[in-house]
Amino acid sequence: MRIAVLISGRGSNLEALIHDQNRYRVCHVISNNFNARGIALAQRHGITNTIIDWSDRRQAEQMLCDLLIAVKADLVVLAGFMRILSPAAINAAGKVINIHPSLLPKYPGLKTHQKVIDNKDQWHGATVHMVNEELDGGLILAQTRFQVDTSMNAEQLADELISKEHKLLTTVVGLIADNQMTWQDQLLYMNEKTCSKPLMIEY
Ligand code: GAR
Repeated sequence: MRIAVLISGRGSNLEALIHDQNRYRVCHVISNNFNARGIALAQRHGITNTIIDWSDRRQAEQMLCDLLIAVKADLVVLAGFMRILSPAAINAAGKVINIHPSLLPKYPGLKTHQKVIDNKDQWHGATVHMVNEELDGGLILAQTRFQVDTSMNAEQLADELISKEHKLLTTVVGLIADNQMTWQDQLLYMNEKTCSKPLMIEY
């Protein structure tokens, strides 16, 4: 399976995907940020990559659509891509998933770690979900969670979560590559059986 990965910055989830390539292959990396560490990483690994200047949003969205159509990936993975995909881009991409640092539907958007602390939540985690036109709103495919240590600040929570994100994302992409995880409309299937709940994996 060929995957295209969209990033905006550090690219540690991209790096985890690159190191896990056997059931799938990263065929293209796209970034909206010229200085994204993930772009240097793609170059080091000889993966074709494109940087799209987002200062003109309409033009950027058109370029992204054209690129996604040309790349013809089997799956598009948003791994820290901090732009909302237009409906046309979602359509051009075909199958799109996103990783988000919260236990959705809790805390779509930004500053998820701080929100966990402010609300004195017992659990924190990450979600891989299908992408639709709502912000962090598509069908939830899988989550990982851990118990919050109340002495941790937001940065420590983010550090604790990121290595679990890497495991969750590579696991889910592997399951999709093996056709073990599929979805249609708003229904998730594992090994062709309907799943009423997303996969929950604790690491
Ligand atoms: C990750 O924590 C990812 O879940 C988050 O951005 C970070 C990117 O890190 N994504 C979102 O907040 C999307 N709503 P990385 O660049 O090191 O993979």
